[in-house]
Amino acid sequence: MKKFSVVIAGGGSTFTPGIVLMLLANQDRLPLRSLKFYDNDGARQEIVAEACKVIMQEQAPDIDFSYTTDPKTAFSDVDFVMAHIRVGKYPMREKDEKIPLRHGVLGQETCGPGGIAYGMRSIGGVLELVDYMEQYSPNAWMLNYSNPAAIVAEATRRLRPNAKILNICDMPIGIESRFAQIAGLQSRKQLRTRYYGLNHFGWWTSIEDLDGNNLMPMLRAHTEKHGYVPLSSTEQTEVSWNDTFVKMKDVCLLDPDTLPNTYLKYYLCPDYVVAHANPERTRANEVMDHREKHVFNACRAITAAGNSTAGELEIDEHASYIVDLAAAIAFNTQERMLLIVPNNGAIPNFDADAMVEIPCLVGKKGPEPLTVGDIPHFQKGMMGQQVMVEKLVVDAWEERSYQKLWQAITLSKTVPSASVAKAILDDLIEANREYWPELH
Ligand code: NAD
Ligand code: G6P
Ligand code: MN
Repeated sequence: MKKFSVVIAGGGSTFTPGIVLMLLANQDRLPLRSLKFYDNDGARQEIVAEACKVIMQEQAPDIDFSYTTDPKTAFSDVDFVMAHIRVGKYPMREKDEKIPLRHGVLGQETCGPGGIAYGMRSIGGVLELVDYMEQYSPNAWMLNYSNPAAIVAEATRRLRPNAKILNICDMPIGIESRFAQIAGLQSRKQLRTRYYGLNHFGWWTSIEDLDGNNLMPMLRAHTEKHGYVPLSSTEQTEVSWNDTFVKMKDVCLLDPDTLPNTYLKYYLCPDYVVAHANPERTRANEVMDHREKHVFNACRAITAAGNSTAGELEIDEHASYIVDLAAAIAFNTQERMLLIVPNNGAIPNFDADAMVEIPCLVGKKGPEPLTVGDIPHFQKGMMGQQVMVEKLVVDAWEERSYQKLWQAITLSKTVPSASVAKAILDDLIEANREYWPELH
């Protein structure tokens, strides 16, 4: 069996250890000869990488493991780039979340003005990775988790049209795992679903088991009572995420024929989200206090002990999806997966050049999108508005245009007026001087 070479870009990410453990657990599906980490923050990456070195030495000493901040070393001789960078890191996420809240608008990593600000930082960072890949390993594929995926996907579609990059999201599969639990099934792979929308902005139209039994009525009934919370769950869910899953019982009422992505909460219930936010302590603070501390402390402990049992690092669903995708490309499995791809007629009554999140068959040539069909007025209206926000952000980045970015923030369903949009924009410009192109 062929063996592959992978570079993880964003080696210092809190998700890197989970991906490494998942890659190691899947050596029968995606055998590796080499694994590299790349990050532009060498000190942060080193903490994660030294712990992973211990784990690699224990579990797979024959896989060549290394880490670097040098693009040429990182991107040469690779088959897959698994990217999850966060330009500006958590301190900038904190600003994305807190600045809009100062103006009474929700603050969120990927939605509303915060997501737009993050998009303006991410576009350049992800394009840089694409260019390194094309320069040093032109046959490689980039599997990109870096957010905000919708804006990043529109930017790569427009600015690097021939790049072999696939943009993906783990939210639908995380929700599908919940659907499977609610339905009493072992795994999300026992479901066959249809879903469409934009990234962090979509709906399930059909959910069946593998025998073709319709699970939608049961899942709808459960959701209206309990949201996306299974009655008996062994999994630990953080309080803020649990609140989001519970809130789905209200969000789902907007359309009785479908089930919504959790992120629709931010567009359909923004007043509720603002009322329940603490402007002094947002999700970025929770992540810095919990996930980041937990992962980095575990890594330091493992490195100090020279032994993986000294710290607790978990495999997660998030990582399994990227392995599925790499294996589908590597071995032409034609697995059906949700990806963010150009619409190109899959939804005939929606813009052909919109990046949509829809089921695709994945093989060695990449994704082959399935036909969705025409969508109803409610979804079409919401998606039409949001997709133009995403396009305006890329316009603004490309043209260095203040005007386009003001329009983007004004058009976001999360923002009440043009004047509020302008006030938020002016604060965001101030906070992002180091990262955004200068706007005129
Ligand atoms: P993190 O801050 O822990 O890690 C990001 C790493 O990227 C850092 O080590 C940072 O130094 C590095 N980095 C930043 N800019 C870079 C650049 N230009 N070049 C190289 N490296 C760079 O963040 P995290 O919470 O682990 O998340 C990582 C990314 O994954 C984020 O974009 C997050 O939104 C995304 N994510 C996406 C999904 C999805 O569904 N698509 C799911 C989970 C996480
Ligand atoms: C989900 C989404 C990601 C997002 C993440 C945020 O997994 O699909 O796109 O980055 O949630 O989670 P966090 O724990 O960092 O708030
Ligand atoms: Mn996502």
